[in-house]
Amino acid sequence: MPPRLRCPKCGAGLCELACSECGVRFPKLGEIADLRVFDPPYDSKDADWQHATELLRKSSQVSLADLIVFHFQSRPGPEGVTLPPDLVRRYINFKVNAREREQKQREEARSLMACLGVPVADGGLAVDIGCGTGGALVVLSAEFDHVIGIDISMSNLALAKKRLEEHDVLNVTLLAGCAESLPLPDGSARYVTASDVIEHVRDQERFMRDAYRLLDADGCFRLNSPNRYTLGREVHVNVFGVGFLPRAWQSRFVQIMRGIPYEHKRPLSYRELVCLCRAAADDKHRALTETEVIRHASIPAASTKGLLRRAVISSPFGAWVVSTLERRFGRSYVALLWR
Ligand SMILES: C[S@@+](CC[C@H](N)C(=O)[O-])C[C@H]1O[C@@H](n2cnc3c(N)ncnc32)[C@H](O)[C@@H]1O
Ligand SMILES: [Zn+2]
Repeated sequence: MPPRLRCPKCGAGLCELACSECGVRFPKLGEIADLRVFDPPYDSKDADWQHATELLRKSSQVSLADLIVFHFQSRPGPEGVTLPPDLVRRYINFKVNAREREQKQREEARSLMACLGVPVADGGLAVDIGCGTGGALVVLSAEFDHVIGIDISMSNLALAKKRLEEHDVLNVTLLAGCAESLPLPDGSARYVTASDVIEHVRDQERFMRDAYRLLDADGCFRLNSPNRYTLGREVHVNVFGVGFLPRAWQSRFVQIMRGIPYEHKRPLSYRELVCLCRAAADDKHRALTETEVIRHASIPAASTKGLLRRAVISSPFGAWVVSTLERRFGRSYVALLWR
């Protein structure tokens, strides 16, 4: 059974989506309750609601992949800008392949938790914050009694609903909500995950605190996020060097390089991520880089590059050099927080 929802505005318990404390009654689109307290990044709530309604209507006629293509083709990009075709392809692939990506991440999380002595959760409630098109929801639905997927975009939730239907998943509840004001009670979740979300939220500190608040006594929170100072391309816009500029110059730079704005994106440095973990969870935290995850999690290396990397990081000195470099310049981080 999913837990009783709490009012995202005042924290009181909700009864039939109505709050007796602050008097707000939250609406529902189909089966998806709308508990958002502010607009999604690129749209107003109303425009997003309308687009989601259209997706839900079309959903029974087409496949998930076709629905995702329709989603991108039938509306403008951020701030009404037309996105370059390579980025549209990139975003479509990201959404279509969400389940495969999440499957790999979940396997890594399980072995990491086991290596670090964190209880590996089975059963209970799992919450995916910023669930997007629901890749993790399908994966987690097989392991937990109930799963809640929360996202600020009703359109993404309409796509997630289609994915759940395609996989005959029945133990998942979708909620439109803000990561900074989660509509769930303290200590209600065994496992909380947020994949590629923290760099998009309005208030990263509140997001971390609220996610941690959900954990029960054995709970674990896993997140991953791209590195601000990666030597590779900035993942959202496919441009080198963005993170090395002062934040105030980044949007101008991306505008010049790609002709699109760089807004609602704030990838963190390793130090920033560790500081946020500390602030949210005192000393019960770990932040790890990709290499450290591979080292801890004994994941089979799929490529020659992976094998080489594994050979280097299996010696203590190699591991130290590679992980120091990766902390500074690697592609992404994983952070684990638990009680
Ligand atoms: C890059 S996508 C990642 C989606 C999914 N976790 C995945 O890995 O496929 C980021 C997601 O975060 C959601 N998001 C952004 N800001 C949010 C907020 N403040 N609260 C909740 N979700 C948010 C977006 O709507 C989007 O679905
Ligand atoms: Zn209230």
